[in-house]
Amino acid sequence: MANIVLGMALSHTPQLHTPPAKWRLRIAADEKNPAHHFRGNIYTWPQLLALREPEGIERWLSVEEKTVRMERANAAVTRMASVYREVKPDVAVIIGNDQHELFVEDIMPAMTIYWGAEVPNCPAREDQAVRMPAGIHLAEAGHAPPRTLIHPGHPQLGLHLIKKTVADGFDVAHSQWMREADQKISFSTGAPHAFGFIYRNIMDDLVIPHVPVILNTFYPPNQPTAHRCYEFGRAIGRALKAWDSDARVAVFGSGGLSHFVIDELFDIAFLNAIVAGDSEYLTGIDERLFQAGTSECKNWITTAGVLEGAGLKAELLEQVACYRSAGGTGTGTGFVCWR
Ligand SMILES: [Fe+2]
Repeated sequence: MANIVLGMALSHTPQLHTPPAKWRLRIAADEKNPAHHFRGNIYTWPQLLALREPEGIERWLSVEEKTVRMERANAAVTRMASVYREVKPDVAVIIGNDQHELFVEDIMPAMTIYWGAEVPNCPAREDQAVRMPAGIHLAEAGHAPPRTLIHPGHPQLGLHLIKKTVADGFDVAHSQWMREADQKISFSTGAPHAFGFIYRNIMDDLVIPHVPVILNTFYPPNQPTAHRCYEFGRAIGRALKAWDSDARVAVFGSGGLSHFVIDELFDIAFLNAIVAGDSEYLTGIDERLFQAGTSECKNWITTAGVLEGAGLKAELLEQVACYRSAGGTGTGTGFVCWR
């Protein structure tokens, strides 16, 4: 029986690797975006600006204030990296989403367990970099190394998780290698940024054998529901308990919180439920709220399911909203550690 010794869930926004003075570069994309998701409704950019005007978000947009917020978030990441080094797990299960990095519209599985021996983390090619929205490529070092690195997967554990979760009623997709990115659509090749952020910032590129669990949180119409994600996490947790190994396992959830329109009330309530292990709250959140980047909170919900009953205690390290515009766009960030 494997032993889960560590859990971590954290935001992975490019903003944490973008100088605060340049956060505004992303506003060009905000202005062009015809559908801003906020509290279950959809707004145009002018509507969003008008809606959020009374909050006075403007006062948080000075470079000084943005710097303070980015430093708070990055300090939490640094703390998590040191906890990780201290705990020294043998094996990891990383739960993240794909954002047109591996899967595009020819086939987009809702839930994939990767059991390949090699996990490449690659910088974007030049043609991919030019396709990215303004201000994204700038932050590449946050999730991709300057030259391709091949990290170790864990075929044996991956296969075990596939067999066990299928037997448990989850018809997961499986994958053993990461193909060359789609020439017209993909922004990068190799592991999605949700995984790259953990490799770079928590593991310092010294990646341990691990199984990437890749969810389609982002793209309609087949995103798994919060309830399904939690149950899938529980099934992974049961499979880990049944794994005939004395390995010490770490479980990661990567992404979130609310973005690209920040809703701090959502973030705070979500974090409280995560820390309390309140599965009823987590699985009862209105699905309309899990749109765009906020959908990545489902990686956290899955992680919470894996960790249910693992005997670890959750600690909230930080919650900080990194606003880039008066419309409240940016990324709501959160950092939780289970030990
Ligand atoms: Fe993301």
